[in-house]
Amino acid sequence: MLTYNDLVKPSVLEQPIYQPGRPIELVALEFGLTPNEVIKLASNENPLGGSPKALEAAKETLASIAYYPENDCYFLREKLARIRNLVPEQLIFGAGSNEIIQMLGHAFIEPGIDVIMGKSAFISYKLFTLLFGGNAIEVPLIDYTHDLKGMAKAITSNTKLVFLPSPNNPTGTWNEEIDIFNFIHEMPDHIIFVYDEAYVEYINNPPDLKPLIAAGKKIICLRTFSKIYGLAGFRVGYGYGNVELIDLLNRVRPPFNVSSIAQTAALAALDDNEYIEKCRVFNQLGMKQLEEGLTSLGYEVIPSRANFLLVRFQNSDNLYQYLQAKGVIVRPLKGYDLEGHLRISVGTEEQNYRVLSILDEYENKRMTE
Ligand SMILES: Cc1ncc(COP(=O)(O)O)c(C=O)c1O
Repeated sequence: MLTYNDLVKPSVLEQPIYQPGRPIELVALEFGLTPNEVIKLASNENPLGGSPKALEAAKETLASIAYYPENDCYFLREKLARIRNLVPEQLIFGAGSNEIIQMLGHAFIEPGIDVIMGKSAFISYKLFTLLFGGNAIEVPLIDYTHDLKGMAKAITSNTKLVFLPSPNNPTGTWNEEIDIFNFIHEMPDHIIFVYDEAYVEYINNPPDLKPLIAAGKKIICLRTFSKIYGLAGFRVGYGYGNVELIDLLNRVRPPFNVSSIAQTAALAALDDNEYIEKCRVFNQLGMKQLEEGLTSLGYEVIPSRANFLLVRFQNSDNLYQYLQAKGVIVRPLKGYDLEGHLRISVGTEEQNYRVLSILDEYENKRMTE
């Protein structure tokens, strides 16, 4: 008898599975803790929670939940276009920016196509490239930072997409505007540059690629409501670029892909500037607290402009387990070419203090063993 494995597309059998940060409830169950004893600093979420305006608006949407959502995210599109100084047709929305990466795969990646990305870049670029049968060309980072010169050298006539996240996840490192602009100016005409700005709200004076888009360069920028807006559970993100590119992506976009609650919440979050500013300042303070604490414990901390830190440990596997047993979930980085590192998201002051105390305790224990 044939099995499903005989029937499935061969590439699916080879496809790696995305490994998310472990959920609080599961870790609690495994280590005999109650869920409120466990903290999650594993997925770069907003430790202050979702924008209160967004949550209020989301509750009101429940009354009309029997209706399908607005298929084109009309109100969200119009508002963002106004705020970001774009025309509405330049915007596309997804169930998180992950879904827009998937749409890029549907539209542009097929066997024989090369996609260039950093070796320790956000893993979805590689996963979607492989899923659509493309070749993931992974260019090693230099000092944990994307090597734009190396990426330019890797371009061939088979290359279609180049991904650059800045800041990058999981390293937190960034590329300077001048280097990004130079890369784009020199990039051949058959390349689409995907600039992932998931953590853009955490940085001051971020590079603005809109003038290059307006000048006709082939670019799509990706943003998300999952990070500073605190709406990861609703799943909403967006891309902006040339109208022609957005039109093509709309052809591969599933119908009703952004839920009505997610649309309403994102719309309201855009009005919650006070909250976003508070989160930004809060993140800066938390980052400083974590960075100083980790450095004084003797760990190597990679400079980050996002809401997390990449840290090098001598025995990261053991430490990962130890932290979980104490109720702290951080992120191991298997599959990112970052053996010996863990990624820690910035939490509240109390959560940061807790992770630092556990690390201190761990080191003291090791010394006395
Ligand atoms: C660099 C980067 N891009 C994109 C995303 C996708 O976020 P979402 O699908 O929640 O919008 C993430 C999430 O962690 C990320 O780190």
